[in-house]
Amino acid sequence: MRLDKYLTTMGIGSRSQVKDYIKKGKVKINGEILKKPEYHVDEENDIIEFQGINLEYSKFYYYMLHKPAGYLSAVKDDHCQTVLDLLDVTPKDGLFPVGRLDKDTEGLLLITNDGALSHELLSPKKHVEKKYYVELDGALTESDIQLFQEGVDIGEKHLTKPAKLELLEDNHKAYITITEGKYHQVKRMFKTLGLTVIYLKRLSMGPLELDSTLKPGQFRPLTEKEIKELQCNK
Ligand code: URA
Repeated sequence: MRLDKYLTTMGIGSRSQVKDYIKKGKVKINGEILKKPEYHVDEENDIIEFQGINLEYSKFYYYMLHKPAGYLSAVKDDHCQTVLDLLDVTPKDGLFPVGRLDKDTEGLLLITNDGALSHELLSPKKHVEKKYYVELDGALTESDIQLFQEGVDIGEKHLTKPAKLELLEDNHKAYITITEGKYHQVKRMFKTLGLTVIYLKRLSMGPLELDSTLKPGQFRPLTEKEIKELQCNK
């Protein structure tokens, strides 16, 4: 495999970022700086270092996937395709999606092998904001903004936590930001208004925003900046 491709699959950065890192002398092969992105890596025998870190020991990987509809947010399933089937990376063992989007939901999904980070992002105590774009089969009203702010009864022990609703266009479309992750939460919240969600897309999770250049089904490693921001969010 080419060195730039290898570094990309190891989660170091996008193809153009890693080429830049290589040209700047941040990559060493067997102890020597090597500035050729086209170098053919011997994955079994070469010792590859990025900024002094031996990549064999670099433990965690982080990918942003633009989940398309029709895929389960799971590692494996006997009947359906899963989001991991879309991820053509090495190493792949141990990767899992952070939280779940419904099969018909699109948008931002973080895939990692970092269990601690996943736990932090999903912990109800952390109130991590998740923003969605939603299309409905009917119109919202200004008063729904207040209702969602106060919390609605979706049949759980407590009302939902305050959610931010931003009406768009003809009021059949909106952004909603929630800080919980109950099963089908967004769909159930709109059901309390007598509305059905006909399209749902997650745009952000905490500081992480869906890269608008990723088409449904495409993914990329997180940048160092994005990883740091997520970790600072802890
Ligand atoms: N809320 C839902 O109803 N579905 C999702 O996929 C995510 C949030």
